[in-house]
Amino acid sequence: MPKYRFAIVVGASSGIGREIARQLAQSGCRVAAVARRYDRLEELRQSFPDFIIPAEHSVTDYDAIPALFQDLTGKLGGLDLIVYASGAMPKVEENEFDFQKDRQMIEVNDLGAVAWLDQAAERFQNTKHGTIVGIGSVAGDRGRLKQPVYNASKAFLHTYLEALRNRLSRHGVKVVTVKPGPVQTEMTAGLDLPKAITAESAAAIILKKSARGGEHYLSPIHAVIFFIIRNIPSWIFRRLNV
Ligand SMILES: NC(=O)c1ccc[n+]([C@@H]2O[C@H](COP(=O)([O-])OP(=O)(O)OC[C@H]3O[C@@H](n4cnc5c(N)ncnc54)[C@H](OP(=O)(O)O)[C@@H]3O)[C@@H](O)[C@H]2O)c1
Repeated sequence: MPKYRFAIVVGASSGIGREIARQLAQSGCRVAAVARRYDRLEELRQSFPDFIIPAEHSVTDYDAIPALFQDLTGKLGGLDLIVYASGAMPKVEENEFDFQKDRQMIEVNDLGAVAWLDQAAERFQNTKHGTIVGIGSVAGDRGRLKQPVYNASKAFLHTYLEALRNRLSRHGVKVVTVKPGPVQTEMTAGLDLPKAITAESAAAIILKKSARGGEHYLSPIHAVIFFIIRNIPSWIFRRLNV
């Protein structure tokens, strides 16, 4: 992975975000670890007392984000990297339309991402340096019958990050979209995902890929499979259960 000195990881209390924070701290990077479950962040701090700064926060508390961002960059002493890993994917039945679940996904996966990453984008635009990583998903490549709003929330994130990349690359800033396939985390606990990789290996691949701006799948085989899936005409895709 590239050498980072100061990072913010939003969604660092479990799964992929926690592993990213842990691997960064292990490499000697100071990490502000942000999430709602403070006990989880405190556990992480106890493993790396000199490197983890825990911050209890819900990404839906949008108005608190500018001050918290300033506070954390001050405590860290700088910022090279921000990773937005917070995400929500409640269980949605195939015949269910539940606005509260849909709203939660849009608020956490999209509005929280914009509120945090706008802060980092502005800072990096001025300092002419920095890396922004957003965790999208292969699920954002198509609209599927099982998870309409989760799919749409990830598609939004991909497009927002592409636009940030187009704005910021001329200022020397990297914007990296990663699109994992199935990963074993709390989000997918209980789902039958035989090909899921561990959060540890997903995090290691994501940090390695953060060296290069652009959109990345986590494996070359996914790049091929999802190229095909993206290009299946809608009227055929509708008949497939993929
Ligand atoms: N697992 C997969 O198969 C998979 C595949 C593709 C993409 N992804 C994406 O990867 C990212 C990480 O997910 P994961 O699989 O590691 O799941 P996870 O273990 O459930 O982690 C989700 C993280 O999001 C945080 N979060 C949720 N709501 C929040 C809120 N209101 N405020 C602040 N943080 C919040 C959680 O922290 P608190 O609850 O402590 O706040 C937790 O740290 C998500 O964006 C997910 O969509 C996952």
